[in-house]
Amino acid sequence: MTVKRRFLKKVLLVLSVLLCVPHCLSGTGTARSALMVVEGSEPDGEAQVSDDEDPEDLEVFQPTDQWQELRPGQAVPAGSHVRLDLQTGKREAKLQDSPGEEEEGGRQGTVNTESQTFTAQELKKALKHFKEAAVVPTDEEKEAAEALRAQFRPLDELKRDMEVLGMMMETDFQIMSRLLQQFNSSAASLEERVSALRELEYLVHQVDNAQDFITIGGLQLVIGTLNSSEAVLQEHAALVLGSALSSNPVVQVESVEGGALQKLLLLLATEQPLPVKKKALFAMASLLRHFPFAQQRFLKLGGLQVLEALFLSSGGASLRVRAVTLLYDMIVEKELILQHGLDPVPDASHEARLRQYSQVSLLPQLAERGWCGLVPELLASPEHDVREKALRALLAMMPPCRELYRGDRALAGALSLLQEQYQGLAESERGFGDEDGYFGELLGLVDSMLGKLR
Ligand SMILES: *[C@@H]1O[C@H](CO)[C@@H](O)[C@H](O)[C@H]1NC(C)=O
Ligand SMILES: *[C@@H]1O[C@H](CO)[C@@H](O)[C@H](O)[C@H]1NC(C)=O
Repeated sequence: MTVKRRFLKKVLLVLSVLLCVPHCLSGTGTARSALMVVEGSEPDGEAQVSDDEDPEDLEVFQPTDQWQELRPGQAVPAGSHVRLDLQTGKREAKLQDSPGEEEEGGRQGTVNTESQTFTAQELKKALKHFKEAAVVPTDEEKEAAEALRAQFRPLDELKRDMEVLGMMMETDFQIMSRLLQQFNSSAASLEERVSALRELEYLVHQVDNAQDFITIGGLQLVIGTLNSSEAVLQEHAALVLGSALSSNPVVQVESVEGGALQKLLLLLATEQPLPVKKKALFAMASLLRHFPFAQQRFLKLGGLQVLEALFLSSGGASLRVRAVTLLYDMIVEKELILQHGLDPVPDASHEARLRQYSQVSLLPQLAERGWCGLVPELLASPEHDVREKALRALLAMMPPCRELYRGDRALAGALSLLQEQYQGLAESERGFGDEDGYFGELLGLVDSMLGKLR
């Protein structure tokens, strides 16, 4: 309402300027006057509208041959006679009866004689146009608007840019949701689904992303994909799962609850392409690491038998090493925890962990299932890395396997051969100035092993 009112005031100002100013300001000048209000007329046309007057009432005065009071802001048609009552300040108008009518009482007036005057119709039209003209701003307003626009145009552009950027700078959460949708779409080709898994694998390495991945249902979807009929999907699902699980207790708990352990064991126990088995072992290792509850479940579900079958299968050295490494990591992890248990002030959470690990009876079960006899086979590998892992596993398994190893002449022979070889290699290493070289480390493992067999 105030805006409207302000606008109408402006219209009236313009009107009053049109009607009044040439005369109000230039005194008499009757010859060219369209309308003349003498003495006491407000030079400021805006004052003609009182604030509580409804501007909607603005209308054109309909003159008769009698004097009628002009209401403030009322338009006066051509040929009207207007006078001002100096006592009351009221203005009156009537139809012109004779040109140049004289004063009458205390009233003074003049006649609207000029040709450039307004008929009632013209005034109404003019008013209408003034209303429409509201859309057309004054020069000042235009300038102000320009200045504003100059300020805001870059903002508009910036906003557009930000939208474009926003699309490019999708959050990881958005990307994962999109990839998951792509993966889960029945319309997606196998390649598209694999590609979605590949990209997801990259993202779920981050701890926060992996937890978001659970939130959007990705983890369950991936676990469900482990028994897909497409080996390539199984493989990549296991890879995504393994990455999400890595050092992420939240994902570990969620995965065990989601049945990942059983599905992974099934993959490892059944006929599968080598890449699927490798990724499944990776996921299994990630699931078990630092998670005694899962390790316990693993043993209960026959994990050792599954790994044993894997070890004995024709899968090749790579699967054997991975299986043994997984077991070795579990042994060492528990040992480290137990060693920490010797700390003078173990905290409460540590007590809880000790309790959990104490329920993981891995070593006795390993011995029971014949793993003592399996691991030495790896020493025959030509690869130093495989030998290293075998040596470390043998040392870790020493407590339950010691008696067996003491009587194992083949093992003693193999160790002696390795000792000889690594003595030579360690020596040449030292010759190059490398005192703590890799071969020296391997030699140390062999020596230590031989020492325990004596
Ligand atoms: C995957 O698709 C199925 C069927 O269209 C739907 O029920 C499920 O919610 C989807 N899962 C996710 C995580 O989007
Ligand atoms: C995967 O396993 C679930 C239950 O464990 C089963 O409902 C689903 O049909 C299986 N999918 C395939 C492709 O075998």
